[in-house]
Amino acid sequence: MGFIDYEVDGQVGIITINRPKALNALNSEVLKDLDATIDAVDLDAIRCLIITGAGEKSFVAGADIGEMSTLTKAEGEAFGKAGNDVFRKIETLPIPVIAAINGFALGGGCEISMSCDIRLCSENAVFGQPEVGLGITPGFGGTQRLARIVGPGKAKQLIYTARNIKAAEAYRIGLVNEVYPLEELMPQAKKMAKGIAKNAPIAVRACKKAINEGLEVGMDEAIVIEEKLFGSCFETEDQKYGMAFFLDKNKEKVKEP
Ligand code: CAA
Repeated sequence: MGFIDYEVDGQVGIITINRPKALNALNSEVLKDLDATIDAVDLDAIRCLIITGAGEKSFVAGADIGEMSTLTKAEGEAFGKAGNDVFRKIETLPIPVIAAINGFALGGGCEISMSCDIRLCSENAVFGQPEVGLGITPGFGGTQRLARIVGPGKAKQLIYTARNIKAAEAYRIGLVNEVYPLEELMPQAKKMAKGIAKNAPIAVRACKKAINEGLEVGMDEAIVIEEKLFGSCFETEDQKYGMAFFLDKNKEKVKEP
């Protein structure tokens, strides 16, 4: 679909942002295509999604600076909303989303990765929120998600200084979960996605919802969210089968000499 490639590998969907001439920068067209691609993901069949960038140099080099350069205040706000709406859709998608960050993840690139559940990156990845150097704030959720992921102190340092960091530092501050040589990034992302897809889908979805929604409220309310979702897993086939299988297997073990 236009600037987005979508491929299915078993129960895993792979979205590739494909605008290599501009290092996969996000203009309005890319955002529109990404939104439509996410809407088209078959949530009955796909259990985990991977988002990556085309080429070996860049995941996403940010929002499109050329397009932003002439925006009015109102248009700037609308552009921010367009990005935020798509990224929030990714964040609240019922299934887990893994970002496979294959190079530059700057501005909107870092921001889209932060709307994903898990961030894996290649050794050549570079992260940063360079916006204040361009006279703007991060506009696709960076001020909010970076502070939540690495804490307000580190987030403020990165955002105020507009300094880029390499994969090793991103790992050290907890911005990425794992770092791999570039050629291993997609195989590892697929391996993780397939591992997630093997688990009980209702339970995996409930975990995503519990973690995301719980983080937005106080602990008393958060724990009630967990209780409800925990309860919702009972009487499902996955729960009956998963527990019966465990108990059965253990009976066999007991019988063994
Ligand atoms: N917007 C538009 N075009 C971009 C772009 C962007 N964010 N990033 C790269 N490009 C384009 C370049 O203009 C260039 O195009 P031409 O070949 O037509 O000149 C092409 O991609 C290749 O880029 P470079 O020649 O600059 O490649 P490089 O290897 O020398 O540098 C880079 C790579 C360090 C990533 C550099 O391109 C760069 O600094 N890009 C901008 C990064 C940035 O500031 N991103 C944040 C944008 S603001 C934002 O995202 C706001 C928000 O939160 C919503």
